[in-house]
Amino acid sequence: MKPTADLGTGYKLVPGTGPHRASEPLIFERSVSGRRGFSLPPLDVPMPPAGVTAWIPAERLRAAPAALPEVSERELVQHFMKLAHQNFSVETNFYPLGSCTMKYNPRIHEELTALPGFSTAHPYEPDAAVQGTLQLLGELGQWLGDILGMDGVTLQPAAGAHGEFTGLLMARAYHEAQGRSRKKVVVPDSSHGTNPASAALCGYEVVEVRSNARGRVDLAALHRAVDQDTAVFMLTNPNTLGLFEEEILEISRLVHGVGGLMYLDGANMNALLGLFRPGDMGFDITHVNIHKTFSIPHGSGGPGGGPVGVKRHLVPFLPGPLLKKEGQAYRWVEAPPSSIGRVRAFAGNIGAMVRAYLYIKTLGAEGLRHVAEHAILNANYLKARLKTAYTVPVDEPCMHEFVASAVEQKRLGVKALDIAKRLLDYGCYAPTIYFPLIVEEALMIEPSETESRQALDQFADALLAIAQEAKTNPGQVQMAPHTLPVERLDEVRAAREPNLRWRPSPDGARPQGALQGPGP
Ligand SMILES: Cc1ncc(COP(=O)(O)O)c(C=O)c1O
Repeated sequence: MKPTADLGTGYKLVPGTGPHRASEPLIFERSVSGRRGFSLPPLDVPMPPAGVTAWIPAERLRAAPAALPEVSERELVQHFMKLAHQNFSVETNFYPLGSCTMKYNPRIHEELTALPGFSTAHPYEPDAAVQGTLQLLGELGQWLGDILGMDGVTLQPAAGAHGEFTGLLMARAYHEAQGRSRKKVVVPDSSHGTNPASAALCGYEVVEVRSNARGRVDLAALHRAVDQDTAVFMLTNPNTLGLFEEEILEISRLVHGVGGLMYLDGANMNALLGLFRPGDMGFDITHVNIHKTFSIPHGSGGPGGGPVGVKRHLVPFLPGPLLKKEGQAYRWVEAPPSSIGRVRAFAGNIGAMVRAYLYIKTLGAEGLRHVAEHAILNANYLKARLKTAYTVPVDEPCMHEFVASAVEQKRLGVKALDIAKRLLDYGCYAPTIYFPLIVEEALMIEPSETESRQALDQFADALLAIAQEAKTNPGQVQMAPHTLPVERLDEVRAAREPNLRWRPSPDGARPQGALQGPGP
């Protein structure tokens, strides 16, 4: 059951020798009593005769020393380096995690974001002391307004979903200011899951509209769903099938015709930069995931940013405080009473904004358009190579990502999950699987624009080899991964009964630890 594939790309799997093979014991298992990873200089202040513990209230003192691992500095560094090398990351592997846009993060951004003026500033410093940061925020807001075609922008939201929440609060405030209380938010079934979730969080009733055979909003169904009670229509574009919604102007006429607002989930702006401005196509509100669109390391919930842009009629509802430029100086001013108020402490995730600023400043308008064009080209190239072996439910030109399906492979007993696991043996991270929900055995593939032709080919070769294995040796795929320190887990048990905490064993001999986690 060991992998032996030669992919014909100079890339060969040799059983058990991959970089991920060796397992690493817990740091507690490396512990040897009395070993130290630090040395302190001799004390140069007077010590009370009973030692420092004399200064600490008795009830705060431990009854017994903490059971900490005792290792040398060398062992400590080695341990964490080995663990780090077992990781899959955008730095080390192809990472086609659809919908998440795991693109390369330029190193220079990390260096500049770490400049003390940005990284050590305190949020309570007076405006005059942080003019550089305020200028950066002011210009970023301006540029985002230009990119989105919007009249006002708030940088406060900490993520895309937070941006949606903020945008919907503004929509509600807008409708209330017009003296109407509307109850419904309409979303297509191909929208990102956060859209209906944000609407529900804001107290709206969510009305779902189905997609047509071409994976776009079904206009006839939309006509039936939209009425005088519709507060907002939320559109993810490109949608979660990676397709551009073509009927936006017609949709916009329909929604505005009943007094509703148009919301664009612009999390996928990396496919639209320089090609499409939501503000030019009838959208009143849009957020952009700056962590996806303008690089910025992200994952597992952050850190990121979801700035929201609005058209002029919604500017009075923007969160406050607002950044104002007077002459050459910037300062925070109170927002008008119509504002929805603050949605985030202080100015938001400054580190994410510095990186977004650098990305836009470095590439300029033309460079940003190339980002979108290359993201689209890469996704279409992969789709063309992979559709020979995998079903592509809507086989039309895609944007920055596309959804394939493993229905054919499932007939042979190999599921999307198995394919995702097997890809790890081939040194690639897996695509998003089982999302969007409207595609059976979905494999959502987003290569991003930062991958080379060679990297795309290597990934396509791996997926084609797996499709072949599904026919000739399905067990090899079903049992994958074979080359990682941990093989197939019982994922339900791993999620429900995580065993993450180390405890000393009662006899003090062998520790009980996470490596015993749920078995294969
Ligand atoms: C289309 C779309 N909308 C919304 C979101 C939610 O963004 P976040 O994860 O930053 O909350 C995502 C996340 O990837 C997305 O792809």
